[in-house]
Formats: sequence, structure tokens, C-alpha cells
Amino acid sequence: MALLAADLKEGTKTVHADAERSKFIKYFFKGEISPATYGRFLISLYQVYTALEKALDAHKDNENLALLYFPVELSRKAALEEDLEFFNGPEWRDMLNPVSPAQKAYIAAIERCSNTKPELLIAHSYVRYLGDLSGGQMLSKKLQKYNDLPEGKGVAFYEFPLIEDLDDFKNQYRKRLNQVEVDEETHQQIVEESCQAFVRNIDIFQEFDHELEGLPLTKKEKEALEAAQAEQAAHSGFLANLAPSNLINSIASAVGLKSSA
Ligand code: HEM
Repeated sequence: MALLAADLKEGTKTVHADAERSKFIKYFFKGEISPATYGRFLISLYQVYTALEKALDAHKDNENLALLYFPVELSRKAALEEDLEFFNGPEWRDMLNPVSPAQKAYIAAIERCSNTKPELLIAHSYVRYLGDLSGGQMLSKKLQKYNDLPEGKGVAFYEFPLIEDLDDFKNQYRKRLNQVEVDEETHQQIVEESCQAFVRNIDIFQEFDHELEGLPLTKKEKEALEAAQAEQAAHSGFLANLAPSNLINSIASAVGLKSSA
């Protein structure tokens, strides 16, 4: 049986490339994701990490999962809460409902693994955390560059203050992956579940695609938007101080003026 770290990297190569090619990621790299859209993307991440970290905590005594259990170094929930408040204001918890279809599917996948075969949570841990420690670092730079963020604000999600050297940590994580002891069938299932986890992430990205198109607005829609903007500004989040051009589109979809195709 080949080593798990190598099999995961090889087995997810194609779907990783698909994720990199997502419209959302392309726009992210061009600095065309508005703070409002990013604020709602953080909500999706929060739903995923809440489910993931709850499941990992529940199985921390499982010998294989314990190898990859780094709650202090890796847990993202608290960091996400910081960024959520920054981008969405103090009332961000009101945005957790309704849970979107892609969020639901991702949470269901994590819960299914947790309830049926906890070793498959290795896949979910691998896809999110190694991703955050890799491509996530590039996303952080783009986010800061294009949004002119105040020093150290809004990027807590990408920061791992308790990890001294990210590359070294990733290598240690890969070594731990190779120490996982499962039968051949489970080994293959972990690789397959990782591919599925990438698809779940792509589906989350796709839920924002329609916000990335500029749609012409009618007079009535414009008036509703202005009212919504005024309401947004009343919140004390980061948005109150920003008025990027695509904010209009983001608010349009937030108030349901644009289809959620
Ligand atoms: C912005 C687009 C992305 C870029 C530019 C990117 C870039 C990279 C790079 C350069 C690596 C290699 C890092 C290393 O070995 O040290 C990597 C690894 C990885 N990325 Fe991405 N990535 C992107 C999106 C994603 C997404 C959306 C996910 C999943 C949600 C993801 C998950 C992973 C994982 C799990 C690895 C570890 C691969 C391994 O070594 O086994 N990436 N990424």
C-alpha cells in the first residue's frame, strides 16, 4: 500500500486544479471579490469549520485521528469569528441562516464520516487545513492587497500564530498522514473522500458565481438597494466604511434582488 500523503496529493491533483480554476478563485486573485461577498463566504467557511472541528473533537481519542489532531495550532473557528465580525459587523450570527445547499451538503458529508467511519475525517482535515496552509496564504496576500485592510485586520483566518514554520509543519503533517494505519479499502476511501471534499469546496465557491456578474438594475431595485445600503452602514462592521463598485451587486443578492442561479 502506497503512503497516504503521496496518494492524497496525487489522487486530488485534478480536482485541486478544478478548484484553482473556479470563477470565485479567479476573481479573488484579481481583487474582484467585494468585502460584502467575502463576508458571506466567511459564513460558509464558518459552517464548515464548526462541523469539522466538532467532529474532530468528538473523535480525538481515535488513534488515527489523534495523529492529525492539532486543535491549538490549526482550529479556525475562533479566527473566523474575528474575521466575521470585522467584515460583517457584530450581528454576523444573524447571517448563519438559512444554511445554503452547498453548506448543507458539506456539513452532511462531515457528519456522515463522523457517524459512520471517523477515519474518513482525515480527508476533510487534510483538504481544509493543508489547503489553508498552502494556497490560503496566497489568498490572504490578495485580500490585503486589494482591500487596503488595516494592519493585521480581516485575515485572522489565514494566520497560524502558533505554527513557527508553515512548510515544516506541513511536512510533519504529511509524515503523520503516513503513520495512519488503516486497511487498503479505508485508505482508498480516504483518497475518494478527499476528492469529494474538494468538490464540496467548489460547490461553495459556485454559490457566489452569480454575484460576480454585474446585472443592470431597474429604478425600483436601485431604491431598494439604497435602503439596504443605509441599513448595512448602520452596522459597525468594516462595510460601513467601504463603498466598492461591486458592493451594489453583493447587497443586491443579499436582499434577494438577483437570482441565485
Ligand atoms: C487559490 C487557489 C489555490 C492555489 C493557488 C493553491 C496552491 C497550492 C499550492 C502551491 C500547494 C502546494 C503547497 C506545498 O506543497 O507546500 C497547494 C497544496 C494544497 N492545496 Fe491548494 N491552492 C489553491 C486552492 C485550494 C483549495 C480551494 C483547496 C481546498 C479547499 C486546496 C487544498 C490544498 C491541499 C489539500 C494541498 C496539499 C497538497 C499536498 O501536499 O498533499 N487548495 N495548494
